[in-house]
This record gives sequence, structure tokens and C-alpha cells, in this order.
Amino acid sequence: MKLPKKLQKKIDARMVTGTLRVLKETDDLVDFSSNDYLGFSKNTSLLDKASEILKKNNIQQQGATGSRLLSGNHKLYPIVETTIAGFHESETALIFNSGYDANIGFFQSVPQRGDVILYDEYIHASIRDGLTMSHAKSYKFIHNNLGHLEKLLIKYANEERPQDQSEQEIYVVTESVFSMDGDTPDLLAIQRLCDTYSAHLVVDEAHATGVIGDYGQGLVQQLGLENSVFARIVTFGKAMGTHGAAILCNEKLREYLINFARSFIYTTALPPHTLATILAAYLNLDTKDVSHPAVVQLQDTIKIFIKSLASLKIKDHFISSSSAIHCIIIPGNSRVITLSRKLKQHGYNVKPILSPTVPEGQERLRFCLHSEMTEEKIKSVLSLLESFIYESIT
Ligand SMILES: Cc1ncc(COP(=O)(O)O)c(C=O)c1O
Repeated sequence: MKLPKKLQKKIDARMVTGTLRVLKETDDLVDFSSNDYLGFSKNTSLLDKASEILKKNNIQQQGATGSRLLSGNHKLYPIVETTIAGFHESETALIFNSGYDANIGFFQSVPQRGDVILYDEYIHASIRDGLTMSHAKSYKFIHNNLGHLEKLLIKYANEERPQDQSEQEIYVVTESVFSMDGDTPDLLAIQRLCDTYSAHLVVDEAHATGVIGDYGQGLVQQLGLENSVFARIVTFGKAMGTHGAAILCNEKLREYLINFARSFIYTTALPPHTLATILAAYLNLDTKDVSHPAVVQLQDTIKIFIKSLASLKIKDHFISSSSAIHCIIIPGNSRVITLSRKLKQHGYNVKPILSPTVPEGQERLRFCLHSEMTEEKIKSVLSLLESFIYESIT
């Protein structure tokens, strides 16, 4: 059966620009691509721990059998949510099936008609999709630009409103680590602005969980903002090496989300085994306020990457970052694809990030760093990249 013409046209356009997305099997190349920052996804002691958790709780069940509001709220849910809330120093945690679900559920349900959402222009697609489902008006601020954010806060906090919209709320949303740039906002300053203009701050910690802080607690806790932010989104498919996400918030907001977040209500809950893997990852990470060896190792790897880059000519093309994500801007889809291919031929998996995922002219190679990476591999991939870029210029 033929694809409808309009759809075929869109596929053809992607073919022409070389941006058609295709699924590929994972390979054995040196991994500068996955979000498995701490190597947890392949950690066999975590697999064993998850099995032990299932056994200890006498769970012999494959699927959750229904939504959490129906038959799916199996007994690991309260155990895991209490553990997550304790680890993140939050009043409560509410688990969603993925970070995507958590973000669309939050933004679809929390901001109401007449409310205003101010979001960083580089915010993740899952938040953007949530914004399109919301009845609130949303406005972007220039990436990490506090002056612009304050201008918008002043504008919307002082806006004349009809009587029936006098209870307007303002939400500000940002990420601890931006997924396509690796950089971090001045969260303390953003929280201060939110306090000044009575706005609610929502922080997506997807790439900070397991990465930032001595034991991977995330940026919000590292800055002592856990009691100030309105909500945090933590995800488990990245450094935690498993799947799912949680919204960290107070009891009242949790109750509201259970009642109104559609991506929470209308979906089958996570299977017990996934919950066991999340619990195993958190139990491992929880070194009780003492540095976690894998987190320290990852932070050392990040320092090695930054130091190795310092002596190279290509360093000026990298976006400044102290996270596990480092990007070099190489304008043009075909150029960035070629460089990624060349690195692949030499055994390195470094993914090209193409437009339209990033704006045209901002195409890039994205390096994701991991705790077990060697200095030798980092130096080797960077010097290869420098030689390829230099070759392609001369
Ligand atoms: C910043 C950010 N938020 C949310 C998500 C979605 O998380 P998940 O992969 O669990 O759906 C991602 C994943 O790509 C992300 O990078």
C-alpha cells in the first residue's frame, strides 16, 4: 500500500537533504553516544540486585496489568517512590513511564488557561510537546539569558488582566543540563527571579541525575534549591541505566498530577522488573552524602576531556560545558555527517546532531562522556577530529 502523497513528500524532502532518520543496530564502537553516563545499564551487579528485589518482595509477575489507577499500582511503586523522594530530598516523587510522559503530563495538566509559561528556547522536545497541549500561553526566552527572562517576567507579572483571570500563575521552565548543548543555566539566579516575580520554577534534571553533585543528586540539590523549586523532573533512562522518570514535588501537587496528568492516567504502569531496576540503581547511587566512586570517575573524565581539548585548535568551536555532554558546532548537515562517518571508520561512535533537531547552521557533533572512558581514547578521538577538520579546511 502506498504512503499518502503528503507523507511521501515529507520523506522525499528528508532524502534530498540527507536528514532521513533510520534505525540502526547498536555497534561495538567506542561509545561517545549513549546517555549511559555511569555504565549502569550493563552493570551486572545491578541486574542481580534487581532480581534480588523481586525475589525479596515475592513478585513473580511480568507486566503491570493496567494503569496505576486501576490494577497496575503493584507493591514496588510506593517503595521506589519513597526511596527516590528520600534520595532527592523531596516531599514526594511520582513515577511516570518515561521522561517524555512526565513532561507532557506536567505541562498538559498544571499550567491553566490564563497562566503563562516562560521557557528557555533550547528546552527539550518533550517539554515543547507538553506546552502545545497546555491551555496556558507560552513564551520563549533567549537561551540562558537572565536579562531576557526578567524582561518577560516584568511584562507578564504586571500585565493588565480581565477580572476572571486575576489569579494568573507564571511558570518558568529550564533544564539543569541542556541535552543538545551540555551547558547549564545559572539556576540560583533564575530561582531568585522566580521569587521576585512570584513565578514557579520547574527544572528538568534528565542529564544532571547521576552526573551533578558528589553522589549524582542533581543540580537543584547541589545548590540547595530543593525546597524552593516548584517541581523537578528526573529520568532513569540516562545515568540510572534503566527506564522511566519521576516528578519530584510536594504532596498536593502529586495528588493533582495523579488526578489530571493524562500521560499518568491513561497508560499501563511500568512492569515490576523496571521498578526493581530503578530501585537497584538508586540504592547503588545512595552513598549517604559521600562521593560515589562512579560519579567521581565521570567527573574526572569530564575534566580530562576539557583539559585534552584545551591544547587543540578545535576548542573554540566547542560549546562551553562542564557536564557529560560536549558539542562542537560544525555548520551544515552533510559536513557533520561526513565527520561522524570518518570517526566511525576509526572506531568511534560520535553522533551527528542535524537540523531540524538543532537550528540550521548549528549542526554539531555531540560527545557523551562516561565514567569508564580512558584518557587515551579521549585524546585519540579529539586529535582525529582535529586532523579531519583541518584536512577539510585546507
Ligand atoms: C532534557 C530531557 N528531558 C526529557 C527527556 C525524555 O526522557 P525519556 O527518554 O525518559 O523519555 C530527555 C531524553 O531525551 C531529555 O534529554
